[in-house]
Amino acid sequence: MSPRYYYSLCQTGAEKAMREEILNEFPDLRFAFSRPGFVTFKQKDDGGGDWVHFTRSVFSRVFGTSVGQSKDQAALEALLELIPEGAPVHAFDRDVFVPGDEPEGFVEDSGIHEELKGVSHSLNFNLKPVEGQPVYDLIRIDPGHVFLGFHRHSGAYLPFPGNRTGLDVPAHSPSRAWLKLEEALLRFKPAIRSGTEVLEVGCAPGGATTAMLDRGWKVTGIDPKKMDASLDKKTDFRLIRKPAKEVKPEDLSAVNPRLIVLDMNLAPLETLDELEHVVRTLRLLHGKRLALTQGLLTIKLNDWRFAHHVPLYLKRIRELGFMELTARQLCSNRQEFFVFANGFK
Ligand SMILES: C[S@@+](CC[C@H](N)C(=O)[O-])C[C@H]1O[C@@H](n2cnc3c(N)ncnc32)[C@H](O)[C@@H]1O
Repeated sequence: MSPRYYYSLCQTGAEKAMREEILNEFPDLRFAFSRPGFVTFKQKDDGGGDWVHFTRSVFSRVFGTSVGQSKDQAALEALLELIPEGAPVHAFDRDVFVPGDEPEGFVEDSGIHEELKGVSHSLNFNLKPVEGQPVYDLIRIDPGHVFLGFHRHSGAYLPFPGNRTGLDVPAHSPSRAWLKLEEALLRFKPAIRSGTEVLEVGCAPGGATTAMLDRGWKVTGIDPKKMDASLDKKTDFRLIRKPAKEVKPEDLSAVNPRLIVLDMNLAPLETLDELEHVVRTLRLLHGKRLALTQGLLTIKLNDWRFAHHVPLYLKRIRELGFMELTARQLCSNRQEFFVFANGFK
């Protein structure tokens, strides 16, 4: 039996964290090779164990089974022959830049489209995959080097190449944090109605606030920094201009949020201490009438070594009362990860 290989894609810089998670989750895999944003694994015992189709890894964006690779045009044509007729195909480049650091004029996936220019095969780029269906990933690793594999479509994937969103920051948003909020809503689909009251911790300059106000939500923000002037006259927004840890019950007496959105540029444990203070203040004020049911939480990893402690951070978030946690590094996240809490007790 020929050995099985798997591949996993992540943000450039997150390879080590992702590799560690996957090797912990699947002890019969071993590391094979890696490029920024792309890691492959080999099954140790030529296929004795079950096929792996899914990982719980926070940092893996796409995880699949390897099919082959090519390093010249003839080999690329032969590789494309391996894609079953009628299968959906996603063609994309591995990540080369940290999100937000792309140079002027950068065009997403221009590399793979260049590689595929001369090929004679017709490929199904526009088929929408259904749950459980294999989606063939054509990934440009380096100039002239194309990798083919397939992942199984599931709720962990958006139906777009590389499990990315295709979203761009709109001109009226004062920061790219707009993207994080919108990506989270796209992926986790929390049912949140217009008029919902939100408490946003770490809100300046206001990208996420803008996204939420555009949806008709009412936002109270906490941040020692000032907001972008575009938010000055918004009647559904109020700023408590101080660090979260200094917030007093009287600051929040008129706020009973259904949702907490958090994005502070502090180390993870400091962030969680500040969040704890806010949650404790809300519990004190509202007791059993506290409306809180969901959290959209960004945790910065100021040092990649903190990635090792993700389970500890999730435990702390659960201890605060948040439940049904899903942790993922979003495509729009930089050196940070995201937690969606779909409950609170
Ligand atoms: C990544 S920015 C937030 C971006 C913002 N969510 C947006 O959509 O534009 C991090 C913010 O955390 C704020 N911050 C840092 N320490 C804080 C604290 N102790 N309490 C509240 N906000 C804090 C910073 O002032 C900064 O505005």
